[in-house]
This record gives sequence, structure tokens and C-alpha cells, in this order.
Amino acid sequence: MSAADASGADLRRAVIVVAAGSGTRLGLDRPKALVDVAGRTILEHALGTVFGMAEPAQVIVVVPRAELDTARELCRAAAGAASHRLSVVAGGSTRQASVAEGLGVVAGTVETVLVHDAARSFTPAAQFEAVAAAVERSGAGVIPALPVTDTVKEQDAAGAVVRTLDRSSLVAVQTPQGFPRAALVDAYTLADTEYTDDAALFAAAGGAVGVVPGDVLAFKITTPEDLRRAEGIAAVKARPGDEPRAAGSTAAAGTRLDARSDAEASPVLDIRTGIGIDVHAFDATQPLWLGGLLWPGEPGLAGHSDGDALSHAICDALLSAAGLGDVGARFGTADARYAGARGDVFLRATVALVADAGFRVVNVAVQLVAKRPRLSSRRAELEEHLGGLVGAPVSVAGTTSDGLGFTGTGEGVAALATALLQRTR
Ligand code: CTP
Ligand code: MG
Repeated sequence: MSAADASGADLRRAVIVVAAGSGTRLGLDRPKALVDVAGRTILEHALGTVFGMAEPAQVIVVVPRAELDTARELCRAAAGAASHRLSVVAGGSTRQASVAEGLGVVAGTVETVLVHDAARSFTPAAQFEAVAAAVERSGAGVIPALPVTDTVKEQDAAGAVVRTLDRSSLVAVQTPQGFPRAALVDAYTLADTEYTDDAALFAAAGGAVGVVPGDVLAFKITTPEDLRRAEGIAAVKARPGDEPRAAGSTAAAGTRLDARSDAEASPVLDIRTGIGIDVHAFDATQPLWLGGLLWPGEPGLAGHSDGDALSHAICDALLSAAGLGDVGARFGTADARYAGARGDVFLRATVALVADAGFRVVNVAVQLVAKRPRLSSRRAELEEHLGGLVGAPVSVAGTTSDGLGFTGTGEGVAALATALLQRTR
């Protein structure tokens, strides 16, 4: 389609959805945007949100040249009645070249341009609205970003650590990135080198860039592990009546990641429940890791691993629901890979085992029985972190045992978890 397709409409905003990459790191047999996640391609998941924006925008989708026809058909179907404001163009050999192709067809009325990675398929609609509104309020470029939670170090070519960076000033950047249209076009005209992202290119041309809060759901599907996480999220997001596209339609373009269709097509859901309990004694010489988070100032827990009872109870509940045994059997103390390992390591490995066994996680609930720490102040953080790892909602609760037993005297903690799985094949 050309710019003329969107002309005539009085659109103030445009969203350029770049989907022309090859997905090398995903390593599948087709471009990443056309890979299937729970019955819809990555591109269709992304477009669902973009076409649902409160203020209608011109939507420009940049796709691999070799897939232009397939992708156009798929985008038109996703646009439905909004196809008059859809443009589909072929991309370039780099992301920057693809964005430039998209910029070339922005309609004349557009004042604000958002550039979005199709691979960030589950970015909430609110993030698009927040970025666009901030651009229009400030007249500057605006990027969504999350605080960096891991310690970040610089290493030399030989792999030795050179220094530890000050994490407090660092953020991890997502999309959509928003810009005043004229300034972005000027910046792209000036650009004579490859930049890491649109904001870097914009800043190099002298533009100011501000930050709004990002969202964990705006993660980029890059690796096979990301794809599993996406499958879990898509399953949770699926609404009743929101049927995956039927085989034989443009779905034929997508890759089946599993033989998922049976359970989804059937009104009878194959649901499994599981339970897990974990107990660890306090060891005040250790730092406390609980629910995958570090708890400064709190006494730690003893164990072959880091003693993260919340994470371990969830692992046991997931394994129990899938009929895969328990943490001890799967990740035994004899295995040196798990000595001192963080809860995140066990959770990722467990989620992969459960997915490989043909299940997706519907939800998890976990409760800590302990005198300390008090979970309430970090409950949202815990639920977000664990939900991201599990790829499904995780609800976290805490209680004391009223001074009774080992949890009451403060000798240790107990955690109890349940998990619900749905069979996918
Ligand atoms: N992209 C694009 N044109 C390119 C390269 C990337 O439109 N020449 C898009 C991708 O389709 C993706 C976004 O830019 O939506 C972010 O890029 P990335 O996640 O790196 O995707 P790929 O380049 O496809 O993946 P890989 O780097 O693993 O090959
Ligand atoms: Mg790439």
C-alpha cells in the first residue's frame, strides 16, 4: 500500500510496526513476525493492540520483502474495518532501514510517530497511549523504560570484570518510542550510521528524549525461551470466544510450536492441579533470596541452593501438576550446576520442563508462612517477577503461624504453592 491509502483520514498519530527482521536468534524456519504464538502470529498479537488504541492512528507495518503478500493479507485481516488506515511496506536490511521505509509513507496529517517492535507483541495499550501523550505534551522524544534490576558489569575482551556500573542511573529501554514527526524525519535524513535505537538516532540529531515507565509485558521475543514465555502469556490473555485463527486461513503462514489445537478447540479443558511445599531454616550469615528477589537486611536461608522457599515451592507445584516428580528428583543436590543456584534458575528450568511435557501454566498461588520477612511491601514486585518467570499470573500471600512451631519461633520458613496447568497436546 502507499501513503495514499491513509490519505483523506484526519489522523494525528502514526504507529510504525517494524516486523521485517529474520529472527536469527529464534532460529525457526520463517521470519519472527510470522511465527505462531498460541494460534496467532507474533505480528497479529502486536497489531491487536495497535488497532485497539483509543485514538485511531495510521498503522504502518514494515514486513520482509519476500513475505509482502502473505503479510499484507494477514495485516488486512487484523485491521478489519480499520484497513483504510493501514499501510504495509517492505523493510530493509537493518531495523533502522526498515523504520526509514515506514517513515516514507507517514500520512500528511500525522504529527506524532510511534516506532514499535512487532516482537514486543504483548506491550499493553496503555504504554502506547502514555508514550504518545508524553510526546504531545513535551514536544520531545519519549521512550518507555524499566529500571535495571540485575547488577551490571563491564568486562574486557578476555572476559575479566573491569568495573561495576551504577545501576541506579540505568534503565532498560522498550518500544513504542515516540517522536514529533518532523523532527524524527529530519533525524533520519541526517543519520549516516547505525544507531542502537530510534531514540539514539534522534538524540544524535540534537533531539531531547524523555522516559516514561515501561512494562514487563513489553519484553521482546528474541530467544526460544522468550517464545515459551509468550505462549504462557497468550494463553492467559485469551478470552472466552477469542478463538485462535482456523487452520487453512492465513494461519498457514505461522509455525506450530506444539500440537496445541486439541485442547483449545475443545470445550473440555484438560486441566491439572499440583501442590508444593518447601521449608528452609534461617542462616543469618547468608543474604536472603526469596521469590527470586534479594531482601537486604533480612537473615538468609540455608540450603544446597540459595534456600528460596517461595521459588522452590512453586517449582514443586508445577512439577507435581505435570506429573514430573519434584525438585529433589529433577535438580538433585548431587548436581553441581544447582549448588547455590538462584530460585530463578530452578523456575526457568521447571517452566521449560513443564512446557516440554505439553503443558501451559494457567496460574500459580504461593503462600509464605514465616515470622519474617513481611511480604506485603514487596508483594507487587514479587508477583511481577514470578509471573514473568512462570509466564502466567502468580499470586503471593504471607502469613505467620501465631508464634507456634518452627515458623513461629523464627527458626525457619515454610512455603506452600499450588499450580494449575492446561494440557496443550
Ligand atoms: N526489524 C526490522 N527490519 C530488520 C531487522 C529487524 O523490521 N531488518 C524488526 C524486527 O522484525 C523486530 C524489531 O525490528 O520486530 C526488533 O528486532 P529484533 O528483535 O532484533 O528482531 P530480528 O532482527 O528479527 O531478530 P534477530 O536479531 O534475532 O535476527
Ligand atoms: Mg535483530
